[in-house]
Amino acid sequence: MLIPKSEFAQPIATEAEAFEWLRAVSRFLTTKLSSSQPAEAQSQMPTRIFVEGRLLQKDFAPFLVQPSDRSFAAYIRRVTETSGGERFGIAINDIQIVSQELWARARELATTYKGFAGNRDIVRVSAFLGNYPRSGFGVHLDEHHRHVLQYGVTGNKRMRFWSRAFVSSHPKAHRQFLSASDYDGFIGDSITLDGSAGDWLCWPGTYWHVGETIRDEAHYSLSFVFENVETYTLEKIAARGFCRSVAELCKSAPHGDAFPDEGTASSQIHELVDEVQRALQSQRFRNEVTGQILTEWMSKTTGGNFRHYPEPKTDMRVGLEERVMLAEDIEVAFTSHAGEILYAANGHVWRAAGSDALADFFRSINSSRTPFSVRGAASTFPIAEEELRDIVSNLASVSAVTPAPDPSD
Ligand SMILES: [Fe+2]
Repeated sequence: MLIPKSEFAQPIATEAEAFEWLRAVSRFLTTKLSSSQPAEAQSQMPTRIFVEGRLLQKDFAPFLVQPSDRSFAAYIRRVTETSGGERFGIAINDIQIVSQELWARARELATTYKGFAGNRDIVRVSAFLGNYPRSGFGVHLDEHHRHVLQYGVTGNKRMRFWSRAFVSSHPKAHRQFLSASDYDGFIGDSITLDGSAGDWLCWPGTYWHVGETIRDEAHYSLSFVFENVETYTLEKIAARGFCRSVAELCKSAPHGDAFPDEGTASSQIHELVDEVQRALQSQRFRNEVTGQILTEWMSKTTGGNFRHYPEPKTDMRVGLEERVMLAEDIEVAFTSHAGEILYAANGHVWRAAGSDALADFFRSINSSRTPFSVRGAASTFPIAEEELRDIVSNLASVSAVTPAPDPSD
């Protein structure tokens, strides 16, 4: 459905902002790909590029934003010219990790939007852009099965939807949707919504859908999906535990068979389910979940640009006399847990012995945003100089703080 704009306090992103996020993604992928780390790049910044409906496996560079592209329109023009007019589309999952501002706005949206129920600790944002006639992956059902809120940043975009009831009663449609093939025969059965820049669309997680261009115009939209961090982490851990147990089960299969026969398998699976349920309720598991949730929170809250970027420089040491300042736009996120303080910046998390003084120190550097000296901080807060120096060194190693010239120089 199309949601009245009055339900939202402000536009979630301007075209210029969203273009800068795309630029940040492009910069990251360009750096990683040129240092031959494509697999790593793919896992950290899941990006799919489709050209004429085919998923591109290499030679991404011409489709990424280049420093000379001054605007979204100029970027689309340049790609169109250099690719001989090929139509392309880019899908980026978790684009919120490149922008603290986007992350903060998405969190705000999660708490203020009341259009559907649900616990919203995690917000994931996906970007879709290009001048593709139809989504490269065709009509599909999102794996997360959650409601989607989609915001049109620029251009017009048509979305088509089919309910689960329709698809399950039309096997031919189901087959064609599953194989991402042509869906022309079912367009008449679809619910169609045309969105323009500034429009919000919402659809249930159970609806099959596909995006299309209107009049071949380029468009850019952002999709927001809300998740519960605890459920999300539980799912991940349970899946991991389940895979481990199944692997053990297969190894110990009777008579050397690769898999147990059906009768045995069914009772073993029941035992396995019981085991997983017991594990879910154990204290060890709760501790693991708590730790993972905090880490998740840290990685999502961290004020830097990427969860794992840039790589920490382990040889960085900050002297006691040095004046340092917070790097632009990077906040130091921190939280207390079991007597420790976890602090994070630019995608990295560290631990320190917890104390009120340390929490005050983090608050003060985030709020003042002016250069501070390590020795000065040590005299203001009752924290050992050595400890303070380690913390500042860690932050400096990921460029969250940088040495600043002394005003007396
Ligand atoms: Fe989708």
